[in-house]
Amino acid sequence: MSEPARQTLDPEPSVADLIAARPYLAFDALDGLMLEAVPLAAIGEALGTPCWVYSAGVMRARLAELTQALAGLHAHVHYAVKANDHLAVLRVFAAGGAGADVVSEGELRRARLAGIAGDRIVFSGVGKSPDEIRRGLAEDIAQFNVESAVELDTISTIAAEMGRVARVALRINPDVDAGTHAKITTGRADNKFGIPYADAASLYARAATLPGIEPVGLALHIGSQILTLAPYRAAYARAAELIRALRAQGLAVRRMDCGGGLGIGYGCEPGASTAAFAGALRAAFGGLELELMVEPGRWLVGPAGVLLSRVVLVKGHGRFVVLDAAMNDLVRPAMYDAWHGIVPLSSLLALGAPAPVDIVGPVCETGDTFARGRMLPPLPAGAAVALLDAGAYGAVMSSTYNARPEAPIAMVDGDRWAVIRARQTHEQLWAGEQIPTFLE
Ligand code: LLP
Repeated sequence: MSEPARQTLDPEPSVADLIAARPYLAFDALDGLMLEAVPLAAIGEALGTPCWVYSAGVMRARLAELTQALAGLHAHVHYAVKANDHLAVLRVFAAGGAGADVVSEGELRRARLAGIAGDRIVFSGVGKSPDEIRRGLAEDIAQFNVESAVELDTISTIAAEMGRVARVALRINPDVDAGTHAKITTGRADNKFGIPYADAASLYARAATLPGIEPVGLALHIGSQILTLAPYRAAYARAAELIRALRAQGLAVRRMDCGGGLGIGYGCEPGASTAAFAGALRAAFGGLELELMVEPGRWLVGPAGVLLSRVVLVKGHGRFVVLDAAMNDLVRPAMYDAWHGIVPLSSLLALGAPAPVDIVGPVCETGDTFARGRMLPPLPAGAAVALLDAGAYGAVMSSTYNARPEAPIAMVDGDRWAVIRARQTHEQLWAGEQIPTFLE
């Protein structure tokens, strides 16, 4: 079962509801919407729109909350770099004690550059290239999460050639439906991810015989934006059963990577509870003397970011509010029918009487729609708005479609803020392109 299209939320929260549910956002009568102690309008003015703004304070607080909830479980947080791979973001998480879950050479290099030690890095992904495997071995990373027998053999060959030992966890596919959007569910048998549950025990036994391989445990990740614990419980129970079976065969299993996927409330619905998540881990793995790992991305960084935009014009007798941000910046609504809160930055505008509007971008695609029939106060041309909860899978998924340069990024920390990525110039956008001589 997959999540229904989410262009609507029932009940649809008002602007005031959205702000009230987010303690790090508040309206100041004069300065308008504040992120921590910084007026977002000031950043929008300074950088121009569209631009992204991330809160270091929110990221730090969320990592601390999760770490606290996991206390006593012998568990480590490995931040899923794919959610937001900016070096400054990685630095905040590194400083908070997190390791990293990476899925490419690029993410591995970023994590290292931001100061995350190799032995705190896990390499996931269904198709690691030989070069990526070599790089991971050279960095002596904590473990490779292996997704197939073919990949296991490749890692063995490369590790043996390099005279190294790869610590390996087998990523099992527990065949559990996470009940999330079909495009972000990963733990069902018909998804491309992981090793079929029934094959895992024999492959683990074989791994123990391969040169250059030390099997250290199991891994799983069943999907993303998961708001209920039942799918986790089901998947973890299957993993625990397998661990017991492997140990009964005399095989050593010391680690369990429990994946990511914890969901956040994009409206006013509560996000996944860290205490309940920790409870599910304890219930499944508590007695097994395991080193646990978790790999959340969205939960840590999603609420920490906003996308600032400005109304270019209003057309269609007030129906279409056209923003200067588009699907190339934030693709989630177009790609997953995702719902993101939209609020004006001006306190005065926020008080206007709501009426239904379509919030759209300027890109030449009908899918370039952020919200349909959204109840919002009147937003005249020039009005600045924030698209909320855009810290995860926002800037990292943006493209330059329609020759739109990448938007700049700022980071807020308390009452300070700084630009952490300048706006891409048009010249940078075509810098790598060449016109072949046969066209001259
Ligand atoms: N671990 C593995 C192996 C993963 O594949 C993922 C996400 C994570 C951890 C982190 O999942 P999270 O905690 O962030 O849910 N672009 C989509 C989400 C794709 C998630 C892909 N894998 C979106 O915008 O909703």
